[in-house]
Amino acid sequence: MLYGVVGDPISHSLSPLIHRSWIRAHGRAAEYLAFQVPAGELSAALETLDRRGAKGLNITLPHKTDALALAESATTEAAAIGASNTLIQTPTGWRADNTDAPGFSKDLKRHTGDISGAKIALIGAGGAARAVAFAVRESGACVTIANRTPERAQTLLERFEYSPDSSAAVGLGDLGSALESCDIVVNATSAGHAGQGFEWPLGRGRLVYDLSYGKAAEAVLIPAQSAGWRTADGLGMLVAQAALSFKTWFGIAPDEEAALSLCRSALEAA
Ligand code: ATR
Repeated sequence: MLYGVVGDPISHSLSPLIHRSWIRAHGRAAEYLAFQVPAGELSAALETLDRRGAKGLNITLPHKTDALALAESATTEAAAIGASNTLIQTPTGWRADNTDAPGFSKDLKRHTGDISGAKIALIGAGGAARAVAFAVRESGACVTIANRTPERAQTLLERFEYSPDSSAAVGLGDLGSALESCDIVVNATSAGHAGQGFEWPLGRGRLVYDLSYGKAAEAVLIPAQSAGWRTADGLGMLVAQAALSFKTWFGIAPDEEAALSLCRSALEAA
């Protein structure tokens, strides 16, 4: 049985490592491959994978929005977020799911416990921020979205119908005051990939969670740590969303801790 991850670039993806370890651990007769598919070519790729009998796919950049549009049906989460990272083959065609949002919630809770009523500063308003904004709204936390382009932050708040009493949209010029007054910070920008970070007020042990991991998270997390913030990178979220995909496909909740240490070792060796 064929499973895999579709994206571009894809060679760096840790998904094959994670899913193959679980497939082996549970003795499943399945293979999990990485498929490099350029932007705009998902439709043709899905047809080919259909013919090859693919049963489940993870979808990553730049195809998450197209995956939702091309699927025959979608879960409420995927439809609300407007993006899919997990496709499941059904008798009537592909069904789009989104395990990024629940994967994020699960991993954030692992670091902080219950976040209902917490004040969250979300930096970023792109695709990655959309799953976070959805998850934060579901959890009942308050959010300030700070983005380089403030209009996109406002659009994100409106998309999920956040109440004006529990939310705000600001530009990065107002990030400092958002960071002063929040309980938790989530960075969902790609600034760290370009080696850019933010200025941090004193953290006093508060948590900064960066959706990136490995080298890409360092430009944001290292200065935050020096300013007294507790830090977490997004590797736990990557494993949590993978575990939810695996459960959807195979009906088994796999060992996340084992996959997390496997990924940490792979990143250290890279
Ligand atoms: P993704 O799907 O990975 O979120 P995206 O939709 O291109 O990718 O969004 C990238 C996010 O990172 C956006 O919030 C972007 O800000 P803009 O909306 O103003 O473009 C943010 N971003 C990228 N580079 C940044 C930088 N150097 N400093 C601050 N924010 C940055």
